[in-house]
Amino acid sequence: MRLLVVIFILFCLGGCRGWRSEKPPVHLNPNMDFQASIKPQENPQLMPDHTIAWGMESDISYPEHRDAIIKQKNIRFYTGKNKEGLWVKTVPIDVTNAVLKRGQERYDIYCSMCHGKDGSGNGIIMEYGWFKPKPYWDDAIVSYTDGQLFDIITHGIRTMPSYSQQIKESDRWAIVTYIRALQVSNKMNFQDVPLEYQQKLKSL
Ligand code: HEC
Repeated sequence: MRLLVVIFILFCLGGCRGWRSEKPPVHLNPNMDFQASIKPQENPQLMPDHTIAWGMESDISYPEHRDAIIKQKNIRFYTGKNKEGLWVKTVPIDVTNAVLKRGQERYDIYCSMCHGKDGSGNGIIMEYGWFKPKPYWDDAIVSYTDGQLFDIITHGIRTMPSYSQQIKESDRWAIVTYIRALQVSNKMNFQDVPLEYQQKLKSL
């Protein structure tokens, strides 16, 4: 009997090799323990494309719910950030002449009184002592991503007020493309002008 006990103890000790097993423990009844579930305190999952949030299917006819769903789907367009929360580098719309024209028109209405029609920061308001913004072709502003410019219109920045109520998203992006045009036209060299216009400019 004693011999058996000693053999049993030696047998058990034989299992101790001094390091931890990397294998998962034996799991006799797994139930649903190994599923891709959301853990407590974890961020909510982003909605996959072409799906509707559970519980919102019947509410889709309410405009405010529909808006919330659409906004979540097209997060780049509505926030200027991508799903990872990084600034969108270029405008998430197709840039056409019509978009640029629209941007110019909206810019002249909403921004030019402070920033000036040319974007120099010499708007009419400056005569009344408002804070003077930097010209748009200041390196700091040129280096902003399109998403950041969109965000400045949405939320304002420091002494500049927000324009989210007055200007809808598509127009904010149009204004961003127009700001880029103002920057290029103030920073470009003569060689950058298309050839057919170079002649015209020389004859002026
Ligand atoms: C009421 C005057 C006013 C209006 C209107 C206005 N801005 Fe501004 N904006 C400012 C001022 C002032 C600053 C400088 C803010 C500061 O540095 O404190 C500024 C700064 C900026 C900047 C640069 C931010 C930076 O980091 O220096 C951008 C870009 C800009 N505005 C875009 C716009 C656009 C686009 C519009 C029109 C939708 C607009 N602003 C309308 C006053 C205005």
